Amino acid sequence: MEYKVGVISGDGIGPEVVAEAKKVLDAIAQKYGHKFNYTSILMGGCSIDATGVPLTDEAIETAKAQDAVLMGSIGGNTSTSPWYKLAPNLRPEAGLLKLRKSLNLFANLRPAYLYKELKEACPLREDIIGDGFDLLIMRELTGGLYFGARETKEVNGVVTATDTLTYNENEIRRIAKRGFDIAMKRRKKVTSVDKANVLDSSRLWRKIVEEVAKEYPEVKYEHMLVDNCAMQLVKDPKQFDVVLTENMFGDILSDEASMITGSIGMLSSASLNETKFGLYEPSGGSAPDIAGKGIANPIATILSAAMMLRYSFDLDDEAEKIENAVQKVLEEGYRTIDIMPQDKKSGASSKNVKIKEVGTKKIGDLIAERV
Ligand code: IPM
Ligand code: MG
Repeated sequence: MEYKVGVISGDGIGPEVVAEAKKVLDAIAQKYGHKFNYTSILMGGCSIDATGVPLTDEAIETAKAQDAVLMGSIGGNTSTSPWYKLAPNLRPEAGLLKLRKSLNLFANLRPAYLYKELKEACPLREDIIGDGFDLLIMRELTGGLYFGARETKEVNGVVTATDTLTYNENEIRRIAKRGFDIAMKRRKKVTSVDKANVLDSSRLWRKIVEEVAKEYPEVKYEHMLVDNCAMQLVKDPKQFDVVLTENMFGDILSDEASMITGSIGMLSSASLNETKFGLYEPSGGSAPDIAGKGIANPIATILSAAMMLRYSFDLDDEAEKIENAVQKVLEEGYRTIDIMPQDKKSGASSKNVKIKEVGTKKIGDLIAERV
């Protein structure tokens, strides 16, 4: 089959990690007789430099015309880059938020899975890790604080900033359904995370989630306050299967979840709408401090490409092939620097396998070869 894949390489390490994901996709194309037709789309700082804005209307139209979009990362150093001297709506991140909203990508899936090979890179104690954990954060992506009205103005001579957090019942219902649907394909447990002891939006969230839960009698569900959830993630991550939550809580909790898997460089994500279209991106940022050094971990982007095959193209075998190739390369002891054992010694061995530190291109080559 032929597929139209939009490619947003973006800024920082984005182009480096996307190149490796394309390498792996091309290996899949060759093996299974598919064709991926790539179209580059400008977004983020590179778009600001070229066009003056982080995302042009033309870029949105190009994205809409694809079957799916694969993305690296956008943005730069927020204290030194000239992009951050611009008005907020002209900064790199505004491009990403506009793309999410324009394509109605309300469902953000962020799996956090601890590979047994990476236990030494996990900052949690061994007795907490146990047999590892496998959870998925289902984050609402087009509502809440990110898209509510905001302003900064003087009130009685005092500069005052306001952001608003709004959710309507339909927005909550559709993301809750996605959460329960995916739980049905996993271990059938949903933890809905909110701050219902303080926020009205959370009280509505809880009420609607309860209604949706009735349609899924097989799924066990519970409510958890967000502060408690942040604690439980480091105390006992094994308890979670699907964590269902709103936009801002999901942003914060997904960084935490990624870190306990060893590195944010391992965490893939998919942002989906009501159709088969999706935007696939690593959960990590553009890491401007290591950009161009050839040491960035491309695995999150490669795993995001696997999610694209699964969710947008229904190519389950091909997706699994990529996931197994990643697993294999880790088993063989290859690591980028971020997932080296905590003592960071190359040549250290873990269960008879010598650990070898490799760069971005090398690990991409190895994964493509295993495919
Ligand atoms: C993420 C990022 C974005 C977000 C930023 C870049 C706007 O942190 O995808 O988690 O906050 O959603
Ligand atoms: Mg984030």
